[in-house]
Amino acid sequence: MILIKTIPQLQEQLARFRGKRSSIGFVPTMGALHQGHISLINKCKETNAVCVCSIFVNPTQFNNPADFEKYPITIEKDIDLLEAADCDILFLPAVAEMYPPDDVKEHYNLGYLETILEGKYRPGHFQGVCQIVDKLLAAVTPDHLFLGQKDYQQCMVITKMIELKGHKTTPIICPTIREKDGLAMSSRNLRLNEQERITALAISKALFYIKENACTGSLEAIRQHAEQLLTNAGYKVDYVAIADAATLQPVENRDAKQQMVALVAAFLNEVRLIDNMVVNSEWSIVNSETFAPSKEMAS
Ligand code: PAF
Repeated sequence: MILIKTIPQLQEQLARFRGKRSSIGFVPTMGALHQGHISLINKCKETNAVCVCSIFVNPTQFNNPADFEKYPITIEKDIDLLEAADCDILFLPAVAEMYPPDDVKEHYNLGYLETILEGKYRPGHFQGVCQIVDKLLAAVTPDHLFLGQKDYQQCMVITKMIELKGHKTTPIICPTIREKDGLAMSSRNLRLNEQERITALAISKALFYIKENACTGSLEAIRQHAEQLLTNAGYKVDYVAIADAATLQPVENRDAKQQMVALVAAFLNEVRLIDNMVVNSEWSIVNSETFAPSKEMAS
């Protein structure tokens, strides 16, 4: 694996691959890698000649400074994992490389998407995500961009930013990877103590509860019960939502044809966890391979 720290060196290296008409796949990360990230690397390797991974803990997407300071950093282990997964290039830039002193922060018109769920509870977060992913895409110019469904709304936001900016890359959304007991893999799980790790399970249990019951009874009653399960377990809930899978508009009345997703964000003491599950089992964001939010979302 080639380790590169600057954009000019990255572009020089990628130009050599491009000369051979090799397709380039890209997996952006903030490090503290786990098998969820490695599943993205594997998918990228399967479908592209060259796999580029970036590790950059992006300061502009942390609305809470304490969360930024405590974000886990495990760079040596990350490099070992990427080597073992046969990643070709690791891009590991410093903050000044991505945000030079003369950097002018771009604003992205994300519309409705930025006003709900993560956008509502983490003001400015998605602007920061767009700023960095836009810069990374400009530097790597990949054919395919690999993202995890665990960050469902982020997948929609990045897809929209790609459209807005006209990047010529196809987003590929890959399934959430779970621990054996159901907890979605997340870098933030490293911050959980032993007791919190046990309690954390309530989040996937609440989502499975929604998934199993969404075809019966009132959706609002099911949503409220899931929220209660989390509160009883000791979570401080930001939201439990049942939404249209393509638009994230809340769904109140079930329509058999409508594809739905349940989304949760909640604090376990200091650690904020998010997770989601597509409710209609016959459909998955993953089945659509490339994930296109509806055109109404774009307005
Ligand atoms: O999901 C993440 O790890 C980050 O939000 C991303 C996409 C790497 C941008 O910093």
